[in-house]
Amino acid sequence: MAQYLGFRCSMCETEYSPTSIIYTCPKCGGNLDVLLDTNQIRTKYQVEDITSRSDYSLWRYLPLLPVADPGGAGTPLRSAGWTPLYEPPELAKELGLGRLWVKDEGRNPTASFKDRASSVVVARAREINAEVVVTASTGNAGAALAGMSAAVGQRSVIFAPKTAPQAKIAQLLVYGSQVILVDGNYDSAFDLTIEAASEFGWYCRNTGYNPFTAEGKKTAALEIWEQIILPGQAEHLLNVFVSVGDGNIISGFHKGFKDLMELGWLRQMPRLFGIQSDKSAAVANAFFAGNEEIVPITATTIADSISVDLPRDGVRAVRAARQTGGAYLTVSDEEIIAAIADLGKAGIFAEPAGSTAYAGLKKALRDGIVDPADPVVVINTGNGLKDVRAAMASVSPAPVIEPTMQALKKYLGI
Ligand SMILES: Cc1ncc(COP(=O)(O)O)c(C=O)c1O
Ligand SMILES: [Zn+2]
Repeated sequence: MAQYLGFRCSMCETEYSPTSIIYTCPKCGGNLDVLLDTNQIRTKYQVEDITSRSDYSLWRYLPLLPVADPGGAGTPLRSAGWTPLYEPPELAKELGLGRLWVKDEGRNPTASFKDRASSVVVARAREINAEVVVTASTGNAGAALAGMSAAVGQRSVIFAPKTAPQAKIAQLLVYGSQVILVDGNYDSAFDLTIEAASEFGWYCRNTGYNPFTAEGKKTAALEIWEQIILPGQAEHLLNVFVSVGDGNIISGFHKGFKDLMELGWLRQMPRLFGIQSDKSAAVANAFFAGNEEIVPITATTIADSISVDLPRDGVRAVRAARQTGGAYLTVSDEEIIAAIADLGKAGIFAEPAGSTAYAGLKKALRDGIVDPADPVVVINTGNGLKDVRAAMASVSPAPVIEPTMQALKKYLGI
């Protein structure tokens, strides 16, 4: 466990002690950053102490995490993170890129990026002896919390929109969580969760509300540092493409790279590119407007995981792109669906919110926003099996034929 000094509000900069169990800033409602004691970490550890660890999961970064070791050896909680990093040659060629990696977060235990946040929050829940952990979710955060909780016998309650894809709802139920579907959207589930948590004393994991989620998510940045940057694989500045809903994943990436810079373990900050659907673009709108004002919209995108009216981590998400020399891009739902098929041809199965990042990269190259000479890593945040309906929309249906050679030849035109 890393020593941490407490929390600092990302808006008004008020600092809070580490012992207070708080979510957002009580003064202004801003998101809180966890303040690591980087001086102490630097005196205690060298880079090799981290990279030589034999734990191939996000827990290899325990010295940089503000939670104690949660135990749970041999369980899914212990195996989140350290996801595969593919370098698909055909996709790089097609896009004219020198180097292209896809980090496949769909390979996490519950098949999405959200396992990173949920396992760290479950670790925190155990530290504070929380009886129940609750979250609102478009599906993945809930599945992750349900799965990570089940792994160590933690009780969890999940609120999700009744329209969430069936596979995600199935995961929640199979992991044995108490599942409550709301007749409303993600935003309404979010508000209900906060009220319920406060009234019943439940520990709330809500994205962009609980400061520990970004700490879990930052471990993906630490992996990119270890898998790409440290071995000297990225000769130029690295461009990182990630989809954005509430904005907590991109904020987590930013936090991870910032922690490394502060430790003196990273020389150049990679550029962060946030991609949203043009039907759910509240963060991108603020970026384009040149301010940090997150104006709620009515989100309608097919990419359910990033369909958010009021992004709860919007300000830090805008800063993640702005302060790193990155940008925001919006893509259409058609482009998102087409990108599922693109990634599929490289053997990578993405749900719509995952392929969104790849669709954004295609657009950035088309618009000349990134230099093809610069290395790129695209984050596939969720597995395609999460949303089979969207996957089927990306391809032509298979023919059905009589099981005879004659019918086959007729179909093949031979
Ligand atoms: C697959 C997937 N991609 C992207 C996101 C967006 O993450 P955030 O809401 O932190 O921006 C989510 C969030 O649920 C997700 O499940
Ligand atoms: Zn504040």
